[in-house]
Amino acid sequence: MRLPLKLLVILLGFSQFTKAQSPTWSEVAPGVWKTIIGNPEVFDLLEAAEAKPNVEALQKLGTANFPLSKADIAAEVNNGQTFLRFPLVKEEQIFGFGLNYKTVYQRGRILELHVDHYGGVDNGRTHAPVPFYVSDKGYGVFINSARYMKVWAGSAVRKDSPNAPEPRDRNTDKKWTSKPYSDAVEILVPFAGVEVYVFAGPTALDAVRRYNLYSGGGPLPPRWGLGFTQRVPTLSTAEQVVQSAKLFTEHGFPLDFIGLEPGWQSKSYPCTFEWDKSRFPDPAAFLKTMKSLGIRINLWTNPYISAESPIYKPMLPYVGTHTVWGGVVPDYTIPKAQSILLEQLSNDQVKIGVSGYKIDECDGYDRYLWPDVAKFPSGKSAEQIRQTYGLILQKITTGLFRQNNTRTWGLVRASNGGGSSFPYVIYSDSYIHEDYITGLINSGFAGVLWTPEVRGAKTGEEWIRRIQTVCFSPMAMINAWSSGTKPWSFPEVEKDVKFYSDLRMQLMPYFYSEFAKYHFEGTPPFRAMNLEPGFKVNTELVVKTTNLNVDPYTDTIQKEIKDQYMSGEYMLVAPLFAGQTSREVILPKGKWYDFYTGKYAGDGEVIKVSPGIERIPLFVKDGAIIPMMKATLHAPVAGEKVDLEICYYGAKPGSYKLYDDDGETFNYEKGDFSWRELKVSPDKKGKLIGTISKAEKGKSDNIGNITWKFMTPEK
Ligand code: GAL
Repeated sequence: MRLPLKLLVILLGFSQFTKAQSPTWSEVAPGVWKTIIGNPEVFDLLEAAEAKPNVEALQKLGTANFPLSKADIAAEVNNGQTFLRFPLVKEEQIFGFGLNYKTVYQRGRILELHVDHYGGVDNGRTHAPVPFYVSDKGYGVFINSARYMKVWAGSAVRKDSPNAPEPRDRNTDKKWTSKPYSDAVEILVPFAGVEVYVFAGPTALDAVRRYNLYSGGGPLPPRWGLGFTQRVPTLSTAEQVVQSAKLFTEHGFPLDFIGLEPGWQSKSYPCTFEWDKSRFPDPAAFLKTMKSLGIRINLWTNPYISAESPIYKPMLPYVGTHTVWGGVVPDYTIPKAQSILLEQLSNDQVKIGVSGYKIDECDGYDRYLWPDVAKFPSGKSAEQIRQTYGLILQKITTGLFRQNNTRTWGLVRASNGGGSSFPYVIYSDSYIHEDYITGLINSGFAGVLWTPEVRGAKTGEEWIRRIQTVCFSPMAMINAWSSGTKPWSFPEVEKDVKFYSDLRMQLMPYFYSEFAKYHFEGTPPFRAMNLEPGFKVNTELVVKTTNLNVDPYTDTIQKEIKDQYMSGEYMLVAPLFAGQTSREVILPKGKWYDFYTGKYAGDGEVIKVSPGIERIPLFVKDGAIIPMMKATLHAPVAGEKVDLEICYYGAKPGSYKLYDDDGETFNYEKGDFSWRELKVSPDKKGKLIGTISKAEKGKSDNIGNITWKFMTPEK
């Protein structure tokens, strides 16, 4: 008997239908639970990133109870897709879902998580659409899928919801709203199964830490990675690059690495992955000269291969059906494709001293990349390849440097869940300064690093405002690939730029220790105020439009803070943007002090500041200890003893974990590192004094003389 097609479809549909169930959870590390719904794909985000949980560090965070009501979590597979539902309670706020640039609060938003170039709206299409969210109730949820997932983050209302809002009459009821209360995050995964993780708190920051540690912990940069970097115009020659480096020394500006843009390659894009011999006739000699000047070299590339590249032919069996800018698109999930690329990078570049890469164009836009109908030889879908291309390129190039026991610090334009441990910083072509700061804030929820790079400016004011913020980010960079700008391009603010590039160098012991905490403890070095204890925003709803003649669709939004952030354990950064002469700063509960003067600034209150263009407002907590070094032109090299000046603020006893290792190799993984305790506590007479614990025997010890500076004037 032949069944009519329609009936067959219905029957098949039913046979796949399972009723929504509350999943069974198993604890895979202390405070981390996993469930498997349906039949998940083998290739997921954690698999692509080859994430290795830092179980020891997770154990240190201790055990915890499952942080959600299990009965309120529902999952079901239906018609080849997975439906997930997680509860939200009243007044709960959620953060995350990747690198968003306009919004911090995600409750109420609808997103499709899709690796893409940021296009000016937070709709899920972004450089790192990490499917991880964290709640201010102290837990996190991660959906381990390399698919485009749809998220209704507290926007939809189920008719069987026990918290369903009352229908209201728009004609007469002033409380009528276009956004009725929703009590769940609902997620659609376009596959018949998925792995889901839940991370315990007790605080939201703890949940973020557990997520990062489960992905291997944050990357530990080489010390030089935290110095200043300049990317030079794309067609620069070896000689011009050497001259640029010398100009930095002449002007007295710090510089640790220079980035070469597409013109170092004989053809791009698509790329040949080999030096252009007219601009770089002797790359090895060039790298040697740069090394003698104390400057490392980072190379731009994109992943698409030109027919003129020496790796084109060997790569052909491993490429997809489509081209990008006329280049073939390798399926880098295939080990042979990986080794063909890595061999070229290694022999032609890394072996002669290249220190890292900028991996461009692995994100989007759609019209540039392969379409979703493309096919790849590994059998993975175009969608999976898109969601993981940046992750895999980071993973394999990190391995290349690891082989030589040297750390790298690079740039990438796409990442995803599970990628916390990669030594790459994300950047974008979009250039809205305000968005760049919101991105920096959100990077801390997503297990990624972001730089608000500086390229050009219309005025000296804009230039210094951008420089001030990039100095408080994972990579202090001027990307002059097309503008040709230099730190001193705006003479009217040159001394202010110098002040901040010097301050960046002075703060290296602080930033380095903060990154070590990212690596060993999972704490993001740059993060939202919402992760800070004692931070409270007036959460009242703000009415977006009140003039019904202009817009009858009155809407309300919740006030969110997206222009101030924490930089390490003790420092609060409150940027100003061009045109702004003053701003409000929300100081969390507890006493806060001005970083520059040590003077008391406030306690759990909103203050107004008008600092002038020469300063970015910086505040530190009571008891803050900030280790600083002399402003040098280059980061200290392995084995170099560095004298420290330790600044202490406020009046409360304080302590700080100062991290030390050789700053260049992976020997810390074999235990060659130390934490020194800096402490300010009262002596017998009650006077506060500073002390440092002894260096551990047999471990790297790069700390020279210590002086203490008590910044807050005594009353
Ligand atoms: C862009 C990239 C820029 C620069 C440029 C060079 O895609 O975002 O930073 O590298 O390519 O062509």
